[in-house]
Order: sequence, then C-alpha cells, then structure tokens
Amino acid sequence: MLQINGLGGGYGDLTVLHDVDLDVAAGTLQVILGRNGAGKTSLMSAIAGLLPTISSGTVSVGGRDISALPAHKRAAAGIGLVQEGKRIFRTRTVEENLLLGTYSGPGWSMRSPHRKKALAAAYERFPILHEKRTDRAGGMSGGQQQMLAIAQALAADPQVLLLDEPSAGLAPAIRNEVFDTARTLRDEGLAVVVVEQLVDVALDVADTVAVLDSGRIVSAGPPEQYRDGELLQAIYLGG
Ligand SMILES: Nc1ncnc2c1ncn2[C@@H]1O[C@H](COP(=O)(O)OP(=O)(O)O)[C@@H](O)[C@H]1O
Ligand SMILES: [Mg+2]
Repeated sequence: MLQINGLGGGYGDLTVLHDVDLDVAAGTLQVILGRNGAGKTSLMSAIAGLLPTISSGTVSVGGRDISALPAHKRAAAGIGLVQEGKRIFRTRTVEENLLLGTYSGPGWSMRSPHRKKALAAAYERFPILHEKRTDRAGGMSGGQQQMLAIAQALAADPQVLLLDEPSAGLAPAIRNEVFDTARTLRDEGLAVVVVEQLVDVALDVADTVAVLDSGRIVSAGPPEQYRDGELLQAIYLGG
C-alpha cells in the first residue's frame, strides 16, 4: 500500500534522510524505531509531502507515485498524518477540529453528506468525542486530544495512516488505548506506520519493525528479532 524507494532529503543543504526503502502492506502495522534525532519525524514528513527538501527517491500509495504531489494532494491520495505533539486547534471545538479533517479527503469532501458521514464515523469510533463535541479541544485530556488528532486524520478516509509518537507523554493505560485504536485500524485494512520511542511498547504492537539511525534504515524485520535487545543495543550504541 505504501512504497518508499531510495528516499533522501532534509532541510535545505542539511540532508537527514538517506536512501530510505520501506514497503508497508495494507493491514500491516509498521513500527519505526530510532534514537532521538534519527530522522523518524523527517521520514513521516517526507511521506506526507511536508519535508522542505527531497533530493531523491519516490513515494507511492497503492501503486500510484505521489512524489510530485504537494501535501494536500497526498492527503487526498490517501496519506493521513498525525504529527508529533497533537496538532489540534486547542481553542476550537472538538467538532470544528473534526470538520477540518474532512477538507483533505478524496474529492475535497466539501459536500455535506460526506462530511456528515465522516463525523458520524468519528463519533461512532470515539464516543467520548461525541460527548465533548461542543467543548474546546484544548480542555480535553492528553489521551482524548490524541484520539481527536487520529479522528481528524481518519476523517479524510486515508489508506495509509502515519502516527508520529502517538503515545508520547500519555499514561500507560491511555497509551494502550491509542495502540488498540492503531491495531483496529490495521485490522480494518489500513497500512499503519507508528513511530515509537519505547522499545518494549513498540515490539508489542508491531507486525514489522524498521530501525532508523542517522537517517538510514539500518535494520528491519519482525519484532521477535529484536526481543532479546542485543540487536537494538548494538544499533543504539552505534555498533
Ligand atoms: N526544521 C528543521 N530544520 C533543520 N533541521 C531539522 C529540522 N527538524 C529536524 N531537523 C534535524 O533533522 C534530524 C532528524 O530529526 P527528526 O526527524 O526530528 O528526528 P526524530 O524524529 O527521529 O527525533 C536531526 O538532526 C534534527 O536536528
Ligand atoms: Mg520525532
């Protein structure tokens, strides 16, 4: 579903991604591991069309090369991104935040039937958002804000969902809820890519793992291969 070939890029003259290859099938939960500064967020940005400079490579969704498309057209082509740090509009209501998500779906979705359907689906999946739909989003708990950010991305009906450290700063119980949601979406057939710093958590949730270091994928495989910790220790210690 998501296919990345030889992707390189960064911020102007500063190249932070080098020759990244990644294939994520539909119905797969791909975890990206890596130290702080490894390039995980830059990779998510590059896929979504938000990295300032792309120097090489291609990104395809469902066989369609979207490399030349700007971010809003990639969203319409099926890429959903939940950025690091819950990028919701805190002073807007929950419902206003959800409606914003419906502007980037296929065909721009400004027709009211589609928007109503997207709202209904979000409220069915996350009943708490229905309960709080007229509340200011910034007044909700961290976990609820993360659910809102995910619901907003889903409102555009993506085929690929990128979650950049969705559990950062959340209590373990809430973190599990976020990952339950990610697994459910995987089971519904999405290609889900999750950036996660905590190794144990990542290995529990992953179908497949890729490790980024200094902007390169230095290791990839099933979670079992990382469980004893030796491989990751070698990578993280620069081995
Ligand atoms: N806006 C930016 N401008 C310049 N360099 C950046 C910017 N954002 C990140 N970087 C650099 O890119 C590298 C990768 O960062 P990032 O993708 O945020 O890593 P991670 O998400 O794995 O912590 C780091 O060296 C970081 O300093
Ligand atoms: Mg990051």
